[in-house]
Amino acid sequence: MSKFKKFIPVNTPLINNKDALSVAKTIKSGWISSEGPSVKEFEKKIAKFLDRRFGCAVSSGTAALEIAIRSLGLNKNDEVIMPSFTIISNAMAIVKSSAKPILVDVNLNTWNIKIEDIEKKITKKTKCLMIPHIYGLANDMDKILKITKKYNLYLIEDAAEVFGLKYKNKQCGSFGDISILSFYANKHITTGEGGMLLTNNPKLNEKFKDYRNLCFGSKKNRFNHYDISWNYRYTNIQATLGLSQLKRIGKIIKKKHEIGNYYYKHFKNIKNIILQPNKLSYCKNIYWVFGIVLKKNNKNNISSVIKKLQSKNIGTRPFFWPMHKQDAFKKKNYFKNIKLSNSEFISKNGFYLPSGLGLTSKELKFVKDTVISILK
Ligand SMILES: Cc1ncc(COP(=O)(O)O)c(C=O)c1O
Repeated sequence: MSKFKKFIPVNTPLINNKDALSVAKTIKSGWISSEGPSVKEFEKKIAKFLDRRFGCAVSSGTAALEIAIRSLGLNKNDEVIMPSFTIISNAMAIVKSSAKPILVDVNLNTWNIKIEDIEKKITKKTKCLMIPHIYGLANDMDKILKITKKYNLYLIEDAAEVFGLKYKNKQCGSFGDISILSFYANKHITTGEGGMLLTNNPKLNEKFKDYRNLCFGSKKNRFNHYDISWNYRYTNIQATLGLSQLKRIGKIIKKKHEIGNYYYKHFKNIKNIILQPNKLSYCKNIYWVFGIVLKKNNKNNISSVIKKLQSKNIGTRPFFWPMHKQDAFKKKNYFKNIKLSNSEFISKNGFYLPSGLGLTSKELKFVKDTVISILK
């Protein structure tokens, strides 16, 4: 099989002429900073889409997680339970706040947190669950909510990877005390960088707004700042770009399902690989990315598969690296002597394929054919 004529990146965003024109219009208007009407409009429209009372736009999903943890007012050594297999932003937000991340393994098939292991990790110090939906598949939120209710815990739902995915008839991103989104270039709605916090609690929303903007003082003395915080502001230019894409969210969701379902249909009978379920009783995978895990007895190993795909001009990414194996945390003596075998296994043996909205049908077919020729 010859290689594709040009490199197929793991993600190509889809920004159309209308998006570009709306951004140009905003720039010309002079409203280029975080001041300006589009930020508020974007917050309102995203909140409405997710059936939330409030949205607070910030500079990234990582920033949103930091503000989320801080806004809950956790004390030193309070414990936050999260999966080991996820983006490092989750654990970093907890560590920076001086609370303690407590790791749980993930399910070998869904790659989401092993819900049945959560209660084993709950102690008197546990204050919060931080639950990311991984790669496009929702967690069973009824089960999660049952635990938070039973132990009176906060819930931060990380919906960065699943904007537009429904859990039963509710949007992911509508659960818990706080939910967060990311608008990085590989997300379903992208503004280059960006993120959002969502809540139904007006007091939390006030905290979000203050923490994203340096905790300015009262009108009497604006520059007497009342607490330590960040500049995590979001620009009016970014909000304009987001609003433009939100108008076609139905098409975006449809295309994400189409790409994922196409790969799934063609790969589901390949032996010795693990794919996330295409659907569960409560959701249909929205395939933020399409991941493949090689089983132990696969004739291929991960680096040879990635190399072979690269030689055909197909970009891939390895999976997240588990939190308990991160040098950044080892240095600080976190997560000593922890073994979470599923997280370790999938991160060593998993990779994902080009899955972005800008993927053409020719590229998609070429990736599919090449993967089959290598893995079958
Ligand atoms: C689950 C999850 N949470 C948070 C983030 C962080 O978002 P950002 O890249 O906007 O900081 C990401 C990024 O991909 C993510 O996948």
